[in-house]
Amino acid sequence: MKMQYARISTVLAILATAVIWAGCSQQKVEPLKTVAIADGTIDPAEWGKVYPLQYKLWQQTGEPTPAGKSKYKKGYDVDEDRRDKLDEYPFLALLYNGWGFGSEYREPRGHFFMVQDQLEVDPGRVKAGGSCLTCKTPYAPILEKQMGKAYFSTPYKEVLAKLPKDQQTLGVACIDCHDNRGMALKISRGFTLGKGLKNIGLDETKLAKAEMRTLVCAQCHVSYIITKDKEMHSTDVVFPWKGSKAGYITIENIIAQIKSSPANMEWTQSVTGFKMGFIRHPEYELFSNNSPHWTNGVSCADCHMPTVTEDGQKISDHRIMSPLKNDLIACAACHSEKPQELRDKIIAIQDETMIVYLKAGYATATVAKLFEMTNKVEASGKKINKDLYAQSKEQYEQAFYRLIFIGAENSNGFHNPKETMRVLNDAAKYAASADAQLRKLLTQAGEKVPEKIDLELSKYTNNRGVKKIMFKPEHEIKSPEVK
Ligand code: HEC
Ligand code: HEC
Ligand code: HEC
Ligand code: HEC
Repeated sequence: MKMQYARISTVLAILATAVIWAGCSQQKVEPLKTVAIADGTIDPAEWGKVYPLQYKLWQQTGEPTPAGKSKYKKGYDVDEDRRDKLDEYPFLALLYNGWGFGSEYREPRGHFFMVQDQLEVDPGRVKAGGSCLTCKTPYAPILEKQMGKAYFSTPYKEVLAKLPKDQQTLGVACIDCHDNRGMALKISRGFTLGKGLKNIGLDETKLAKAEMRTLVCAQCHVSYIITKDKEMHSTDVVFPWKGSKAGYITIENIIAQIKSSPANMEWTQSVTGFKMGFIRHPEYELFSNNSPHWTNGVSCADCHMPTVTEDGQKISDHRIMSPLKNDLIACAACHSEKPQELRDKIIAIQDETMIVYLKAGYATATVAKLFEMTNKVEASGKKINKDLYAQSKEQYEQAFYRLIFIGAENSNGFHNPKETMRVLNDAAKYAASADAQLRKLLTQAGEKVPEKIDLELSKYTNNRGVKKIMFKPEHEIKSPEVK
């Protein structure tokens, strides 16, 4: 840290947050000459005629990212194979077996690809219908308005076919983050984030400009539930934030929300037979829960959209990607360390996360297999202790949701190192106690439980989905502890 910044920030801490934001963030872009863009213009090429520099950088999210810079996020680097989380973390293939996420679960790549990737991925992943387009196409708000409830459940391809042909694979567009009149940052997804903000005590119409530099991203980089009716048709896309506060959306509360209604159970886990909820990319939730950067007023855009010079003009980098891949230029606005030093710090945080994540992951997968054994024992007619079963199931679910919260979050711990460790350590504890209880239950029922449970991973990592995807051992991420 620049000492100077630390001092300034302490002084400013007693002033309004808005002052801190202005004090140190990526805001030294050139004043904007705005030209009105006609209402209803969605095609970024049209916006690009007025703002060619931002448009050019935005287009670059469709290019492969520089290789050899990020340790854990090689998803779409030059000359690298695309990575699937199920190969990187084989225990996930076991845990997600039973629906689309257990077939194919690619690491993210640039914004340009978001709809294209849904068309390429195992079709099990878009079974929920139009709801899947909610944080993908810039047309989602229009579709939701036009189709009402039917938007959520109508088959994915049918909804996509309603869009102009040349716009069907368009990813996040200018209109998703900007007001066409004047270019101010704007929330386009009132039907999801708008409702979510109300639940955490924020008014969508009264947000500070600085907050918007995070909230435009929170339209999509959040977890959500695709609620279901009795026939398992999708009925809505809901952020599980009820009972939470802005700056304090905890995993405990998210789990409580998921478990609060059978409508939130989106799939059945095949190994255990349990109906389950799910957690997706909770970047905003993890980051905003008291992380050092959040409490100091740093925004998503500060790190992912640094000020760059294009054509002699200072603008915000619209090629949004991992800060490691453009040599951490974003960090230099506030940190005086050399990029290599900062890189080492990031990797150290991520390595530490990975050690505990892998332990908690395998521990949770082991519990799933113990449930499989227990269910078989019960099916064979033996009596089992129902209380112990119910307690273990509760603990298992607590472990599972914590594990996948961190697993789905895309920074591998960096966005909030302390909270990440807290959540993962709790996951490991819950898994350990479910493990002990189930062993007790099985022993009581007269079973001999081997000390080491065979996870039969190859059963889950191979022949995945309709594409029959095979395990790629070369992509597995091994614990940095094991040298
Ligand atoms: C309309 C939804 C949406 C909005 C708004 C959005 N994102 Fe994304 N973002 C996505 C999706 C979806 C992906 C994954 C795309 C894929 O893999 O096909 C993604 C991917 C990313 C990636 C990974 C890029 C890579 O090269 O792998 C980063 C970083 C990112 N987003 C940051 C941000 C930031 C920062 C903001 C706000 C300034 C933001 N996003 C706004 C939906 C969105
Ligand atoms: C994921 C959200 C997102 C998308 C998509 C996006 N922008 Fe931006 N844009 C931002 C943010 C954040 C800023 C910084 C605004 C601020 O702090 O006031 C910004 C700033 C700008 C500015 C002001 C000058 C600058 O560079 O800071 C212009 C002009 C602009 N964007 C044009 C565009 C155009 C054109 C597109 C589409 C090709 C686009 N933006 C797409 C988030 C986005
Ligand atoms: C202090 C800087 C910082 C802030 C603030 C920040 N990020 Fe990140 N983000 C990072 C770093 C560093 C990584 C790790 C990249 C890597 O491992 O390659 C990352 C990773 C990501 C990724 C995965 C990138 C990839 O290539 O797959 C996404 C998506 C993302 N951040 C979105 C967000 C969103 C959304 C916010 C705000 C809620 C946010 N970030 C706030 C620094 C930041
Ligand atoms: C807008 C300002 C800002 C930006 C941009 C920013 N940081 Fe920070 N960073 C801070 C502040 C403020 C703190 C908290 C300092 C404290 O509490 O002492 C911090 C703390 C940290 C810490 C923990 C404390 C330490 O020094 O070990 C790390 C690591 C870190 N930042 C890395 C990064 C990286 C990597 C990037 C770029 C991807 C980045 N930061 C971007 C302002 C920023």
